[in-house]
Amino acid sequence: MTRPIAMITGGNRGIGLAIARELAARGHQLSLGLRDPDSLPEELKAGDPIVVAYDATDAKAARRFVDATLEAAGRIDVLVNNAGTARDLKLMPEPPQDDEEMEEALDALLQINVKAPFRLTRAALPALCRSGRGRVITLASLSGKRVLGLGAGYQMTKHAAVALSHAARRAGWDQGVRACAICPGFVATDMTRHHDELPRHEITQPEDLAHLVAEMVALPNTASVSELLVNWRYEPGL
Ligand SMILES: NC(=O)c1ccc[n+]([C@@H]2O[C@H](COP(=O)([O-])OP(=O)(O)OC[C@H]3O[C@@H](n4cnc5c(N)ncnc54)[C@H](OP(=O)(O)O)[C@@H]3O)[C@@H](O)[C@H]2O)c1
Repeated sequence: MTRPIAMITGGNRGIGLAIARELAARGHQLSLGLRDPDSLPEELKAGDPIVVAYDATDAKAARRFVDATLEAAGRIDVLVNNAGTARDLKLMPEPPQDDEEMEEALDALLQINVKAPFRLTRAALPALCRSGRGRVITLASLSGKRVLGLGAGYQMTKHAAVALSHAARRAGWDQGVRACAICPGFVATDMTRHHDELPRHEITQPEDLAHLVAEMVALPNTASVSELLVNWRYEPGL
């Protein structure tokens, strides 16, 4: 039997790498969209992955990634929208941020966290529908469910990511596509390394999320989870 094909953005480190490892271990062939293809970790080379240059800020990158995957493998069964950025963007920054810097951060957040997964989901959906059990996993965040601190930009984009996931679920449902928005709190990756106040061994580990993602992928079409809220600490309702 041919291996199911799983496309992942940013599978070179952090949560994306943990998901790549876990899906490969569970028999998927990987198609990895990497900003720098040379950053492919040695351990993933053994599974003979498809590796495609993919920069989320390039409007044409999504179509190229999907086309290259279809050319090499002929099918797509799983799409993991993982690549993301957490640029700091507040409504009332202290000290004040100049407008040029603000625009640059806002553009990066929208490009990488919203426009790129939208383009990729749109480009991959026809093939995912042909699979009969296509899966779209989008790494949103608990910041896509509530606004806790003073940040505004990342939070806006992760709310949009949750909406994208629900739209994918709606669009592909009748053809067997099941979409799930993964909404974690703090995870121990480079993205949270500057949070000195966090107990790194007590926050969610990338491997825990990878396990959950693989379970979401494996569930039958008759048992679909639309959102998975994952927290390392107690928050009322979350
Ligand atoms: N860590 C957390 O606490 C947390 C919590 C909730 C949700 N999430 C979400 O989970 C996802 C993965 O986060 P992470 O913690 O693993 O982050 P990370 O360790 O900072 O890794 C970010 C990944 O995104 C890739 N990436 C960034 N900009 C890109 C671009 N322009 N084009 C292509 N790839 C790009 C990076 O590739 P390079 O190596 O080339 O930079 C890297 O693979 C993100 O969507 C994030 O928002 C994270």
